[in-house]
Amino acid sequence: MTISVVILAAGAGKRMRSQLPKVLHEIGGRPLLGHAITTARQLADAGIHVVYGHGGDQVIARLSELLPPGTVQWVRQERQLGTGHAVAQALPAIDASATVVVLYGDVPLISAATLRSLVAAGATGALALMTVELDNPAGYGRIERDAAGAVTRIVEEKDASDAQRGIREINTGFLAVRAGQLRQWVERLDNSNAQGEFYLTDIIAMAAQDGVAIHTVSPASHVEVLGVNDKAQLALLERCYQKMRAQELLDNGVTLRDPARFDLRGEITHGTDVTIDVNVIVAGKVTLGSRVTIGPNVLLTDVEIGDDVEILANCVIEDAVIGAGCRIGPFARVRPQTRLADNVHVGNFVEIKKSTVAPDSKINHLSYIGDSTVGSRVNIGAGTITCNYDGANKYQTIIGDDVFVGSDSQLVAPVRIGDGATIGAGSTITRDAPAGELTLSRPPQQTHPGWKRPVKKKRLEE
Ligand code: UD1
Ligand code: CA
Repeated sequence: MTISVVILAAGAGKRMRSQLPKVLHEIGGRPLLGHAITTARQLADAGIHVVYGHGGDQVIARLSELLPPGTVQWVRQERQLGTGHAVAQALPAIDASATVVVLYGDVPLISAATLRSLVAAGATGALALMTVELDNPAGYGRIERDAAGAVTRIVEEKDASDAQRGIREINTGFLAVRAGQLRQWVERLDNSNAQGEFYLTDIIAMAAQDGVAIHTVSPASHVEVLGVNDKAQLALLERCYQKMRAQELLDNGVTLRDPARFDLRGEITHGTDVTIDVNVIVAGKVTLGSRVTIGPNVLLTDVEIGDDVEILANCVIEDAVIGAGCRIGPFARVRPQTRLADNVHVGNFVEIKKSTVAPDSKINHLSYIGDSTVGSRVNIGAGTITCNYDGANKYQTIIGDDVFVGSDSQLVAPVRIGDGATIGAGSTITRDAPAGELTLSRPPQQTHPGWKRPVKKKRLEE
């Protein structure tokens, strides 16, 4: 059986009160629509068709950044005339023998396992419909069944009688059915209803009349079928998503000091005996080695961290590679294109940008290292600054192995410090410093014997 997925994503999402198209709002750092597509990819072998409308160009541009080219076929729905009309736009491109699975761009947490059970329920030529019983079914289409329990139709809330509104079994919107059959039904839809829309849900009554079996399945968890219509639901689903991700990490042996205070906005891979303290945000692609400890309040974005690394509290690290045995922070900022080799120490209030640091070097206090290459076993004293920018262009600072830079020095790039050189504290280095020598630039110290501090003048009394 070949499966084509149709994802409905043309709605405006007015209740989000946002300029951003609804399906581009994010959960776990990924657009809502990205979640639906990722799940669809685990299922579809005959194409994923996304019906888009509102904010179309923006939606396509954003998703194209995230997905391999050709992952989805974009189908434009010029005017949002209803869910049935939306599905009809995608059908011409789908083979009649394929099974169509309908998903929603704003229902992000549906699992592939649940969708497989839906597909299986439709396998015998039946129409498979995903329904759940809710204590508060308000707003949803209700499932009507006959005396024998067979589904006969779906009635939308706005078209329902009081008695029908009392039905607690609701339509989640997810369904699976043979494309050829779906086409025949969709062609017969009309919009004579309370909303003047072509309801996809009207095909249920047609299926019942045509004698097609309607099988219902339920999701493993209600969370899977919750949609995002407003910011409160977005926040709720974000928490549900984070809870699931945290549980996965716990299951894989990661120590999370508090699973409720961990946020994954990307992907994480890790070794064994990793400990993550509270309020850590992991974004982009992050790799942690074994025996890595991440302190509280740390933001890691696109970072690769080796074994036995300690990241202390309050560090911000982005687009960096941190070698084994490094110790970073507290309060360190490691900016993009930084490569730290093994056993490097970066301490408090140190900023490093676009620099490589060789093994066993220490930059422990209050320094700025930018556009630099730092050798092995180097000690950068407190308050050292590489002056990499002249206001127009940026220049390199090259520091050899075994260099000692005294505190409060400025290295004015472009400049080279030779192997084994020592820079005296407080120096402003504007020319290359030779290997193995002491270089300093410092006005000679003066003492003025007998000099007296000024004293405050007394005001004349008036
Ligand atoms: C729909 C179902 C309802 C079900 C509910 C589940 C219909 C008629 N009703 O109602 O039975 O309980 O979902 O959440 O199907 N869309 C388009 N193009 C359109 C209209 C909608 O792409 O012309 C998309 C929307 O962006 C959205 C989805 O389809 O992602 C559902 O549309 P929406 O109007 O929200 O349907 P509901 O009224 O919630
Ligand atoms: Ca609607």
